[in-house]
Amino acid sequence: MLIRICRGWELPESAVTPESVVMGRRAAIGAGAGLIGGAVLPARAQAQGQAMRNPRYRPERDITPERDATTYNNYYEFNMSKDVVRQASRLRVSPWSIKIEGLVAQEREIGLEDLLRQVRLEERVYRHRCVEAWSMVVPWTGFPMSELVRLAQPKPEAKYVLFETAVQRDTMPGLRQNWYPWPYTEGLTVAEAQNELAFVVTGMYGKPLPPQNGAPIRIHVPWKYGFKSGKSIVRVRFQTERPSTFWEALQSTEYGFWANVNPEVAHPRWSQASERVLGTNERVPTRLFNGYGEFVAGLYTNLQNERLWA
Ligand code: MTE
Repeated sequence: MLIRICRGWELPESAVTPESVVMGRRAAIGAGAGLIGGAVLPARAQAQGQAMRNPRYRPERDITPERDATTYNNYYEFNMSKDVVRQASRLRVSPWSIKIEGLVAQEREIGLEDLLRQVRLEERVYRHRCVEAWSMVVPWTGFPMSELVRLAQPKPEAKYVLFETAVQRDTMPGLRQNWYPWPYTEGLTVAEAQNELAFVVTGMYGKPLPPQNGAPIRIHVPWKYGFKSGKSIVRVRFQTERPSTFWEALQSTEYGFWANVNPEVAHPRWSQASERVLGTNERVPTRLFNGYGEFVAGLYTNLQNERLWA
């Protein structure tokens, strides 16, 4: 017999408001509640508000005001300013599917709804540190990336996982800048993807992800600089060779594969010793692995010859 022990942060099924009740209430609030980017979001994604906060991950800083986290963004497919909200609102987020490819038991394409039916959503408040030396603290809704790896069933030879993000030529004017190596790709080792911190994100602040933050599904890797956290994921590929990634292909002297946060290793053009906190503009010291060393330092003990910090 399967016995399931509830951890402290999980509500028993009986205590969770049934989705039909939540959906009914949302429907009554108004049609606008489910509209993002002009498309009706999947019912399951609308239920993000139900996800319980996981208290294991403490940000030790105040949560950034939602307005700051959702109006100061990097999404180069739209434009290169921080002000992408209006242009990103054109992103088509439904229907959405993700291709799972490469060294897996069976290559397939999975619809977002179908994927979300197979995982349990939770909320995690993570620090998010951009390589440009600003940071924020966000309550993300999502599920552990290790679950995605489990569902994909990679073969033992798979050592890396590549994340490729959406290309919508008609909605993304930034793609016309053809000196960039589109599509935006990022990668992790399979071991990193299985680390408990690596997170697949479908919402923030208890709501579905807004387009400018990577709707409808992105990744978040909190111990690495923010560029590792690709938005609007459409392809996940398992492979033996280290993937070439967007920023590394563009400027390998400044941006590498590993990109772990380290205050003592300066970017060639600026210091990484401190960061500007969005919302307050306060400057605070940056922490090694963005403060998540206890979870991830062990991943790198045999990799001293690698450029772990760029
Ligand atoms: N993903 C895509 N597809 N395109 C991008 O331009 N920018 C990256 C990352 N993911 C980017 C992306 C960078 S540089 C950062 S710092 C974070 O997204 C910013 O995420 P946020 O806007 O949600 O804070």
